[in-house]
Amino acid sequence: MIPDDVVEEVRARADIVGVIGEFVQLKKAGREFRGLSPFKKENTPSFYVIPAKAFFHDFSSGESGDVFSFLMKHQGMSFVDAVKFVGARSGVDVREVGKGKRRDDAWRPYYEATAHAGAFFAERLWEWEGGGGAREYLEGRGIDREVGERFGLGYAPDEWGAFREAASVHGLDEGTLLELGLLKKSEKGGGPYDAFRNRIIFPIESVSGRVLAFGGRVLGPTGKGAPKYLNSPENPIFHKGEVLYGLGWARNHVRRAESVLVVEGFMDVVSLAAVDIRNVVAPLGTALTQSHARLLKRYTNQVRLLFDSDPAGLRATFRAADTLLGEGLHAAVVTLPDGEDPDSVARSGGGEAVRGFVAQAVDVLDRKIAILEEHDYFGSIEKTRRALDRLLPTLRAVKDRGLRDIYLTRVAERTGVRAETLDAELRQSATTRAVPEGRTPLRRSRPGPRFHGLGPERALLLLMVKHRECIDKVSESIGPSDLEDGVKRVIFEALVTDPELARLPADTMPEAVQFFEDLMADPETMASPEQVLTDTVSAIETNGDNRRRDSLREEFRRAPEGPEQRRLVRELERLTKKTAGRLPDWRRSATHHREGEAPK
Ligand code: UTP
Ligand code: MN
Repeated sequence: MIPDDVVEEVRARADIVGVIGEFVQLKKAGREFRGLSPFKKENTPSFYVIPAKAFFHDFSSGESGDVFSFLMKHQGMSFVDAVKFVGARSGVDVREVGKGKRRDDAWRPYYEATAHAGAFFAERLWEWEGGGGAREYLEGRGIDREVGERFGLGYAPDEWGAFREAASVHGLDEGTLLELGLLKKSEKGGGPYDAFRNRIIFPIESVSGRVLAFGGRVLGPTGKGAPKYLNSPENPIFHKGEVLYGLGWARNHVRRAESVLVVEGFMDVVSLAAVDIRNVVAPLGTALTQSHARLLKRYTNQVRLLFDSDPAGLRATFRAADTLLGEGLHAAVVTLPDGEDPDSVARSGGGEAVRGFVAQAVDVLDRKIAILEEHDYFGSIEKTRRALDRLLPTLRAVKDRGLRDIYLTRVAERTGVRAETLDAELRQSATTRAVPEGRTPLRRSRPGPRFHGLGPERALLLLMVKHRECIDKVSESIGPSDLEDGVKRVIFEALVTDPELARLPADTMPEAVQFFEDLMADPETMASPEQVLTDTVSAIETNGDNRRRDSLREEFRRAPEGPEQRRLVRELERLTKKTAGRLPDWRRSATHHREGEAPK
């Protein structure tokens, strides 16, 4: 924290034209200064700085504020950093007091260590004879020294103690280096050893340019055993869920381009920079988190996702998109030809090729719809229902009201389900799927067979958790809307989205988080997963159809006579045939008979 009087003094002494002038070319215009908007692309200047009021106003983006808010908005600085920045230019000694200050001090040894390590690795790469192989490797991948140095790349020598020794000469504390994961404790006694050996080093920086951690890539093709990339572990200054690789370098380009490209990893960021595409960041071998989304939102609300196009990559893409939509950002998907990644496209076709693909980015909802279309998901009513189940998470995620409306309309058009019905479904599935107020269920779903003494829904989820390989099979036959219980639907949906899911995101409804943990901890083993799959799926399908039939009957009762009623009758008949297909012969004829009557 900075004391208020110090903030006020900095504000009073600040030369707002001078400070903003460091980032925007300003021309005097009467008592004001004018320039091109730094927030939005424009040809005629509509950005004004008014020194008399110590204020700036940007007519094209609507941004305005004082010198501190300029730095926060334009440079992504924190308030404290902005005050320090201006203070340093106004001759005011800005010092933090209280908690913030102590924390800063407590972190200093870590930052000293990472800065030293970064410098050590960089020196080994560029100046050291033994770094020749690493230099050749980078050159072979199209990364010249200029780009390499911009990203602070380095090389960790193929030795067990080179860094440790350099650090000790420098007087760095070994405990700190161990905590940072730069050194590792030897299992067989003996001193700690270098964690990164014979790897290209990618320093991971905070937005303000401090080194937080490192990623290291093995030289050349991946060998046996050693992972291709090794990242620093979580440590007091590095929380990978809160850092995006490249953001510090990319942020001004992101603002200028009014969009950000999110790629999978280090190499993609660096090689795109090498072909002059610089509004690029990457998460660090994790899914995109809420913090990541918020971080991006400081610079733009247009996000293009450029991940692998294989099934795992698509799952990651859609998950990331939902996270972004949840923070009010827009998400579009860039698709590359099979087997290509941004780095390979940049290498073979240059920046132009990459830009070409990026220009064809497709809104995430449209992408989902296109994929469902490719798999003929709108060919039948049943499949449409399942398609809907896959689209609902995206609809549910959208925060932006305007976008939500657009999405609802789009899905309504494609599926033939009215937008109001979708809207109601979304509201309802946000909480437990309860019977709507004022109505009594027409028929309770039959208890159905038990599985190891469990209801079919719990048994199915247990199967999905314990036998992840079944998830795809399950999702071919049923969707979340087939489940009666809201908590279980949430879990079902999460597992279909990410079959490897180990924990539900913290912002999921607590009952679901708890239930999922219970499932994970459940010691039950299944003798015959195949059998459980067939039985639960068929029981749940039948239950789902019964519920759907109940609600169709209810709708029929309320509908005006005419085409709407006829449509409902047709739907009911179809549903009945479908259920009958699953029943033994003697039940089938009985059902047919009953359904022959007009629905009551
Ligand atoms: P890839 O295996 O696709 O690597 O992993 P890449 O980025 O294309 O790297 P090159 O082109 O082979 O050098 C994508 C990203 O996943 C993370 C890294 O961030 C990587 O860039 N990753 C991958 C890891 O963290 N650890 C691994 O072992 C592999
Ligand atoms: Mn690659």
